[in-house]
Amino acid sequence: MHQRSGANVRPSKIVIIVHGGAGDWPSKLHKQGLSGVGVAADRGFRIVSKEGSALDAVEAAIVMMENNPVFNAGRGSTLNLVGEIETDAAIMDGKTLKGGGVALLRDIRNPIKAARIVMDKTDHVLLAGEAARKLALANGLAKSNLRLSKRVHAWKEGLRKLKKNGVLYLSGTSPEVLQRFLLKSSDTVGALALDNDGNLAAACSTGGVSLKLPGRIGDSAILGAGLYADNESGAATATGIGEQTMRLVISKAACDLMRHADAVSATTRIIRYSTMAVGVGTGLIALDRFGRHSVAHNTRNLCWAARTVDVSTAKMFGTRVS
Ligand code: GLY
Repeated sequence: MHQRSGANVRPSKIVIIVHGGAGDWPSKLHKQGLSGVGVAADRGFRIVSKEGSALDAVEAAIVMMENNPVFNAGRGSTLNLVGEIETDAAIMDGKTLKGGGVALLRDIRNPIKAARIVMDKTDHVLLAGEAARKLALANGLAKSNLRLSKRVHAWKEGLRKLKKNGVLYLSGTSPEVLQRFLLKSSDTVGALALDNDGNLAAACSTGGVSLKLPGRIGDSAILGAGLYADNESGAATATGIGEQTMRLVISKAACDLMRHADAVSATTRIIRYSTMAVGVGTGLIALDRFGRHSVAHNTRNLCWAARTVDVSTAKMFGTRVS
């Protein structure tokens, strides 16, 4: 049987990279978005720089973004077709390959904390709906009204546009519909970290695509699609239209490439393939096991920030790949 070689086979350098969503960020939100990802990256970096774990760092970074209404996650989540909140989140440990995800949560303030509870306290990988909510509440997580008035306004506006265009609901498969609606907003938050012990972790959280059908679960709850981490290759997390990402199992595909390629080459190749196979609408951040990070997308923007011992970066775009 193949033995995992463990974390101590290479010198590690601590890194955190986070994103606040791919899409078409209106210029009036750039400052807020960049500040939000910067604060989240700083929070996670403080943890790994004090010998904390990559897992704790990515969770803490996501909490910062879930609490920031500029992002489509936690407080600030977009609404589904009937005007409800349905959040998804997941977290994965590259050392053990353990992971946890939650889907269809309505009022848990920090869905990423619920995902961590699924990973740490159950034998399962994914829980959805009321059962996931009960587990979160039983473990002391806070409830919150996540339905912000700006999202209610956007939902009403979106319904009007759907009706005007004769569209019943947003499907992830029609480029025309995607261009007209989805890519006009930002999507999902994600974080990847490498700690002092050489361990990688990944996490992501989202309100999902706006005007989705009730009950729809996206990639951000699902290991392999929305995120993946494996100490023997790398960590990756996706943003954009979850239906595209799930069909390509994009984060696992990126990690598989990082066994032999660096993060830049892996993300560029995956996004190029994604554009060809399923169209535009996806972004991907990756961190290989040597601490090299990368951001690639076929959307107009992807808001991200990274911290290493030497470098601090925050940008509204990475490598745009067509
Ligand atoms: N990428 C988030 C979603 O599609 O739900």
